[in-house]
Amino acid sequence: MSKIVSLCKRRGFIFPGSEIYGGMANSWDYGPLGAEMKNNVKQAWLKRFVHERPDMLLIDAALIMNPKVWEVSGHVKNFTDPLVDCKTCHERFRADAIPPEHAAACGGELTGARQFNLMFKTFVGPVEDAAHAAYFRPETAQAMFVDFKNVLQSARKRLPFGIAQIGKAFRNEITPGNFIFRTREFEQMEIEYFIRAETWEQKFEMWKEEMLRWIEHCGIARDTVQLKEVEAGERAHYSKRTIDFEYPFPFGVSELYGLAYRTDFDLKNHAQASGVDLSYTDPDTKEQFVPHVIEPTWGVDRTILAALCAAYHEEEAPTAEDGKTETRVVLKLPKWLAPIKVAVLPLSKKEELAKVAYPLYETLIKQFVCEYDETQSIGKRYRRQDEIGTPYCVTVDFESLEDNAVTIRDRDTMKQERVKIADAGEWLTQKFN
Ligand code: GAP
Repeated sequence: MSKIVSLCKRRGFIFPGSEIYGGMANSWDYGPLGAEMKNNVKQAWLKRFVHERPDMLLIDAALIMNPKVWEVSGHVKNFTDPLVDCKTCHERFRADAIPPEHAAACGGELTGARQFNLMFKTFVGPVEDAAHAAYFRPETAQAMFVDFKNVLQSARKRLPFGIAQIGKAFRNEITPGNFIFRTREFEQMEIEYFIRAETWEQKFEMWKEEMLRWIEHCGIARDTVQLKEVEAGERAHYSKRTIDFEYPFPFGVSELYGLAYRTDFDLKNHAQASGVDLSYTDPDTKEQFVPHVIEPTWGVDRTILAALCAAYHEEEAPTAEDGKTETRVVLKLPKWLAPIKVAVLPLSKKEELAKVAYPLYETLIKQFVCEYDETQSIGKRYRRQDEIGTPYCVTVDFESLEDNAVTIRDRDTMKQERVKIADAGEWLTQKFN
């Protein structure tokens, strides 16, 4: 894990948040490469689960919703973790996750557990009183229920259909940690898939398979992921069945994604509390009922972390010196996920090379996220691109001035191919398709 955290900082994927002020408890900022990668995850998810499906609609709702939403959803009452205090050092821990270091370092007596609500509270407007209190959303899901009627009326979809959303969620986690695995501010990609109650088992299976396929698409081998059936006592208050998709992170096997059968819990409760009819009328039979819901949910940050863990490789690679090898670190990310797709590398800083390499870079940049790098030895630059997962390096050398061709190096095989400059764009396009 420390190797990944250090690579992320060194190469500009992820930095500690507000670092110049000593950081801010478990907040992380995505740097230039991390932001590209995160964007790739979200775009691929949108393409796959929204744009390529006739049964899906996208929304983008407010982060701060009417506080009534959270009362009715059950989050005010139930979205809690048991918390204990140490009577000696006054540290607070989740009752089910007391770090063993505490017993060794302090050993103080712990209080009994009390429930601690995980929602972030704030005040809307200039008055800080109970009437103006509100919460940052702890899940994106509620907007799909609250907006159900507006979506249904405007888009006129037939069941089954889903409402999808990507966005930030906030939880005042008692014990955040393990890098971007558990933070207080994170991003979710969620779908509420509205169905007829009697089809729930079939749709649950359908989404289980879709989620496993997505996992593979992210470069994570399907057989490394374990499906955990969550026991009744451990399930969220709204769920009749939940499975967790667990990944063997370096710190242990932990939840990557979740899939839940939320029944008609949310729509029914919101309809009752708001007095607004949230039922669906079958256009053929005129049958009227409250749809049930299957909810597949993905954490963006956990996707990034698992994909980085799966892609991280250290391997022996030949050096320029005959017969010698050195360890290269390479991120074998799926090409679509790599933050930089193509690096254009003139062999040296000589102006005559730049005259060829820079215009090529300017052409390629219109199609691919590219980097232009002319400092340090070519070997070091290849290693740098390997370490950030760049699938192709295009090298302009002195021969290029004669034959109007470049060398394109493949990240994984390290094989090099000579390609005419005029054909480089098309050659790369084919490799990315
Ligand atoms: N709407 C259902 C829901 O929010 P969840 O299992 O609590 O379910 C969904 O969260 C996903 O969000 C998780 O599977 C995980 O990927 C991500 N997630 C949850 N808490 C997180 C945290 N504190 N930090 C980072 N990601 C988190």
